[in-house]
Amino acid sequence: MTAPELEQAIAEAAWQIASANYVVALVGAGLSAESGVPTFRGEGGLWTKYGEPDMRGYERFLKDPAKWWEERISRSSTYRELVTALEEAVPNDGHFALRDLEELGYLKHIITQNIDNLHQTAGSRAITEIHGNRTKLRCISCSQRWPLDEFPMDDMPPHCTNCGGIVKGDTVMFGEPIPRDALNECVEQTRQCDCMLLVGTSAVVYPAAGFPVDVKTSGGRLIEVNPNETPLTDISDVVLRAPAGEALPRVVERLRTMVNE
Ligand code: APR
Repeated sequence: MTAPELEQAIAEAAWQIASANYVVALVGAGLSAESGVPTFRGEGGLWTKYGEPDMRGYERFLKDPAKWWEERISRSSTYRELVTALEEAVPNDGHFALRDLEELGYLKHIITQNIDNLHQTAGSRAITEIHGNRTKLRCISCSQRWPLDEFPMDDMPPHCTNCGGIVKGDTVMFGEPIPRDALNECVEQTRQCDCMLLVGTSAVVYPAAGFPVDVKTSGGRLIEVNPNETPLTDISDVVLRAPAGEALPRVVERLRTMVNE
């Protein structure tokens, strides 16, 4: 996309956001790429390098949760570079721009597929983490959650202090159902949404990739922010073919200017 084309698209995106009643952002790994967190697919993606994990991760956990915890505590993760990148990552201008859109009253909610806690660190508030949060633990029976360092690790595997269920990391494993409370909130936010920002997602993983289609089907608008094409590009009303850390702050600036005009 040429610079004048991107400028024009940013103006259109700002106009769409200002004209909407209920803007929601659907976020993927691409937003955190500029924070040094590897993406999964595409060039340099983790799954591109190591192959996509099989769908039996959760099944193995259920079979022997103590073994899973031992491996976790021994930090023998296959994806060392991801763990290290997540530990060192700080929010980038894309995260702060979403925070600003919320503070300006335009952005009502963030549905994030990212587990990195960078939205919270940037100061965003209305967030649903459809794939969980790496800094939290969750009971697989009652979905109660705790910050990692606030849960007594007396027995292996740890059990829920609320219902006695087994406790695991809050991050949703391959093959694990999306926690009901998170899924219900995503469906509710999508129902209210009339303009969805698609930020840094390849839009191939469901149920998240289905939400933009629901918005479009109910007459809403889609704004894609991604340096690459995705399966949603063709149904998007505005496309910002640029990194999120570059494009989103310019959309915020445009909205601030529009307010002052
Ligand atoms: N800004 C915006 N988008 C970017 C940037 C950037 N700086 N860099 C890369 N992208 C885009 C890529 O073009 C790609 O479309 O981000 C997308 C990343 O896609 P994936 O790696 O597939 O990540 P995501 O869509 O979040 O994957 C969904 O799959 O493996 C599971 O649980 C994992 O939550 C993840 C889910």
